[in-house]
Amino acid sequence: MKKKKLLAAAIVLCMVIQLLCACGKQKISMSDKVYVGVTCYDQNDTFLSELLVCFKEELNHLNKNGVETTVTVKNAAGSQRTQNDQVKELINAGCNVLCVNLVDRADPSEIIDVAKEHDVPIIFFNREPVAEDMRQWDRLYYVGADAKQSGVLQGELAVEMIRQNSQIDHNKDGKIQYVVLEGEAGHQDAIIRTENAVDTLNKNGIELEKLSYQIANWNRAQAQNRMEQMLGQYKNKIELVLANNDDMALGALDAYKNLNYTEALLPVFIGIDGTDMGLKAVEDSSMAGTVYNDKEGQARAIAKLSAALVIGKEAEEIKFTNENYIYLPYSKVTKENVHEYLK
Ligand code: BGC
Ligand code: CA
Repeated sequence: MKKKKLLAAAIVLCMVIQLLCACGKQKISMSDKVYVGVTCYDQNDTFLSELLVCFKEELNHLNKNGVETTVTVKNAAGSQRTQNDQVKELINAGCNVLCVNLVDRADPSEIIDVAKEHDVPIIFFNREPVAEDMRQWDRLYYVGADAKQSGVLQGELAVEMIRQNSQIDHNKDGKIQYVVLEGEAGHQDAIIRTENAVDTLNKNGIELEKLSYQIANWNRAQAQNRMEQMLGQYKNKIELVLANNDDMALGALDAYKNLNYTEALLPVFIGIDGTDMGLKAVEDSSMAGTVYNDKEGQARAIAKLSAALVIGKEAEEIKFTNENYIYLPYSKVTKENVHEYLK
């Protein structure tokens, strides 16, 4: 009996030792190659597709500097369930860092659980998870920008333009009749941008009259459609169009063109992003201004952080805004400085 007990104890001891060795090995074998797995809420989104081009350039740059990287990009095409599956596929394919542009920014738990289980860190970008979810694990990061700042800067652009040009008040009633084109209902950059833009106009003593607002999901064609509806109702009463992004500002402009409005009846259009098309529109004065969403800076931060999390290189240059967050600043773009932004 005694012998049996001893044998059992010896076996257990062996198993424990084996287990400890295995764990030790896993910790030591830090990878020297960066396998990045990206999944994007919708690859047709103009801003994100431009951000991804920058991101690939940044990874090439790292390759040239001797940090070996490979990247796989997946398109969740608007489905959180698809995105959850994509994360599993990326991990199974050997990705050692994930860059996730959430479809539903309030629903990251499944993704976090899988990543945690496999100890693969996540860099969320552009669509910010709620703070509580970010605290679920210490290997979660966010790269993006401060939504409030973009709204304030858009408001400031509008204030400057209204002060400089009395013609904007078409009907000379001392008030600016405006409409808003908003992004997706649940996105941090939608409501916060609108609120802060309008707030900034109010604080600067500009008298406003809100005619309407419409949700157009960041999308140019939807914005054109919504704007045509608003024009049906308000005709030439609209003096200012505040759009949560450039694509929607351009869509609004499409509506006016499509309905053959003359130049003199056009309102002021202001966007956010500084996409290629947005910057061109500022250059040719069809858009009055935009707020630059620093995709180059964000792409660089995501690339450097990816490398740092996997191999520890490039970590020293990373500036965190606070703990696990990196926010790149927005800036104002008008006809005067747009050449600094055009490639
Ligand atoms: C950009 C939009 C984009 C959205 C996607 C925002 O920050 O301004 O253009 O559609 O992110 O999540
Ligand atoms: Ca007016």
